Amino acid sequence: MAEYIEKAEIERQKTYLLKLKEQSNNFAIKNGRKPRANTETYGCQQNENDTERIRGILAEAGYEFVDKAEDADLVIYNTCAVRENAEDRVYGRLGILKHIKESKPELTIALCGCMVQQEHIVERIKKVHRHVDLIFGTHALYKLPELLYNTLCSKKMVIDTENSDGKIFEDMPILRDDNSKAWVSIMYGCNNFCSYCIVPYVRGRERSRKPEMILSEIKNLVADGVTEICLLGQNVNSYGKDLDEEIDFSDLLKMVNDIDGVERIRFMTSHPKDFGDKLIDTMATCQKVCHQLHLPFQAGNDRVLAEMNRKYTKEEYLEKIRKVKERIPDISLSTDIIVGFPTETNEEFLDTLDVLRKAEFDSVFSFIYSKREGTPAAKLDFVLTEEEIKKNFDKLLEVQNEISKKKNDAYVGKVFEVLVDGVSKNNDQMLSGRTDTAKIVNFKGDKSLCGKYVKVRVTESHTWSLNGEIVE
Ligand code: 5AD
Ligand code: SF4
Repeated sequence: MAEYIEKAEIERQKTYLLKLKEQSNNFAIKNGRKPRANTETYGCQQNENDTERIRGILAEAGYEFVDKAEDADLVIYNTCAVRENAEDRVYGRLGILKHIKESKPELTIALCGCMVQQEHIVERIKKVHRHVDLIFGTHALYKLPELLYNTLCSKKMVIDTENSDGKIFEDMPILRDDNSKAWVSIMYGCNNFCSYCIVPYVRGRERSRKPEMILSEIKNLVADGVTEICLLGQNVNSYGKDLDEEIDFSDLLKMVNDIDGVERIRFMTSHPKDFGDKLIDTMATCQKVCHQLHLPFQAGNDRVLAEMNRKYTKEEYLEKIRKVKERIPDISLSTDIIVGFPTETNEEFLDTLDVLRKAEFDSVFSFIYSKREGTPAAKLDFVLTEEEIKKNFDKLLEVQNEISKKKNDAYVGKVFEVLVDGVSKNNDQMLSGRTDTAKIVNFKGDKSLCGKYVKVRVTESHTWSLNGEIVE
């Protein structure tokens, strides 16, 4: 059974929130404005969801938000550790913040998230980036009120990266940007220890939230106008395994499906080893569950899969894809792939291309392997050179782009219900939204449609998106 942060501790944090609020009021009297915070998120949806919690705490503490670090009194970077380039971007930003802080010494800089849950990173920051004021790990998020208060009252770097297996906390504020869609974490952590991945080390063991907590959060979201829910977890298929009651992810999906006012349900991520018939059946029969599945396969070759500790074979994976397509013919599929796992040969990589061609994913998130200190794969020697790996990566994109375009072509001429997300990024005359199958559709329309469902006929397809026109 997952452990929860005690109520008394949450109440204690709330007393710090009051103290911060008082400080913010004093700040406003002195400066004629509220203190300003800038938050930035690196990495996955789980991190996005954590940042929403951070912003909830800051809003409650009397902060307003700005888009640029230059305009802020407090900067918080919620970092990612999955690949080296995400960490390098943070170091790059820290360099820029150093300059900003030179001309604005009262600026407070905080780092949190997966990257700083690693000891060697904290050591580097302590040595090289002395201008950071606060470092807190993934397990200390609920303590932000106390940690921020202590930071503002002290001249020393405050650090809390205690490496517990993680406890669940409920009943802290959360501030979401989107009014119609929301991420809801159903579980935290990961027990799978894929040999290349740092996540189990920085996010702790799998722990499921109680279903009543999840359902009550969703009901509150619906009351606020949210209609699309994305259930989040590193491996949602393990949901409930650590709970006292008999419940699994399919059962939870059914319960969410029964909530009035919820229109669409998505979820991520599923691990292929635990993805089975019961879930396929639930997806097919629950009307609100979107016909979209993200099922990372990582590599196509059985030897590589075994060395990755993925616990399935290429054929087993393809069989699951066949089953889901048979049961839900309009399913839209996406996956994650790692190219250049240390011992992967060119010949073994061909199996990855074979899976691409057979599964016919709608979209693929592909990554070049990045060595993560402390993981088993970090000890392996590379078979291929960097150039060879890059060549394989480019080949993968070439093969997949053709498939993505073909998949999108099949949408042309048909009408789909689209939830309008907002104004299109590239053209403010256009709106952008998503189909049930998560396809991005751009079309002309009035801003007042944002957050609403409209019927759109697809008129044109591209590799990454569709164009269309409203039909009603
Ligand atoms: N290098 C490259 N990609 C990785 N991922 C996880 N760890 C690594 C790594 N060390 C990818 C996997 C995972 C996604 C979230 O990130 O494909 O599914
Ligand atoms: Fe990492 Fe594997 Fe867990 Fe996903 S399932 S978070 S890839 S260890």
